Amino acid sequence: MTRLSGFRERLTRTASIQIGTARGPYIARLISGRPVVHQALCPHRGGPLADAYVIGGLLVCAWHRSTFHSADGHPLFGPSDHGLRLAQAHFDGDDLVIAWPWEPIQTRLDERIARAQIDRTPAWVALEERYQEWVLAAAAEHAVALLFSVAPHRSMRVHRAILGKGGSKPVCEVIRHLLIAALSDDVRDIYSLPPGLTVNGVAKVEAAHQLAAYAADFLDGQDPFDILEEPRHEIDLA
Ligand code: FES
Repeated sequence: MTRLSGFRERLTRTASIQIGTARGPYIARLISGRPVVHQALCPHRGGPLADAYVIGGLLVCAWHRSTFHSADGHPLFGPSDHGLRLAQAHFDGDDLVIAWPWEPIQTRLDERIARAQIDRTPAWVALEERYQEWVLAAAAEHAVALLFSVAPHRSMRVHRAILGKGGSKPVCEVIRHLLIAALSDDVRDIYSLPPGLTVNGVAKVEAAHQLAAYAADFLDGQDPFDILEEPRHEIDLA
């Protein structure tokens, strides 16, 4: 979830605004007074949709005239067989609030990881063995604990916890979070926050970044998609 302050006013003054995301650029624009956020490049041959024509509720790519419905991204006319990826967007006061379409990733990964753990697949057993030898295991446990702590508001507490000794989380739970962190371009997007916490909390963000760094080390260059036998196209944008 992303909140862009002051975007209601900015969108009334500008035809379209590009938004960078970990999954590539998106475009925000107003169509019939409603905010629409869609992928920035045409699914046909990558034409820049910042230059698209808006006709009624339709978006028409300027390159080869693929035409998409702005409400759901469906292709209506033209050469594109694929629809346009949209993010759900609404105004909250002056802010634009965007729910990115890759948020369901966590559910699919959780199911896949749970199956691997229960079935004790060779990849899962190998990860457990790697974890036992892994020198950063205790620090990763603390990062996971801090992510789900109900009051991680003090940054010093993060440093103390990460540098401290001893772990509290079961091995399988830490491995699960490491895999999810390794599969996420932006680990903050895939963890739902406990009530009352914002993603901007220093302690929360720091723990998320630490976890992502530990995940990279833990996997030792191995592709987490391969470990989970997860086809990339399933895990990509919904
Ligand atoms: S690139 Fe958009 S229709 Fe061809």
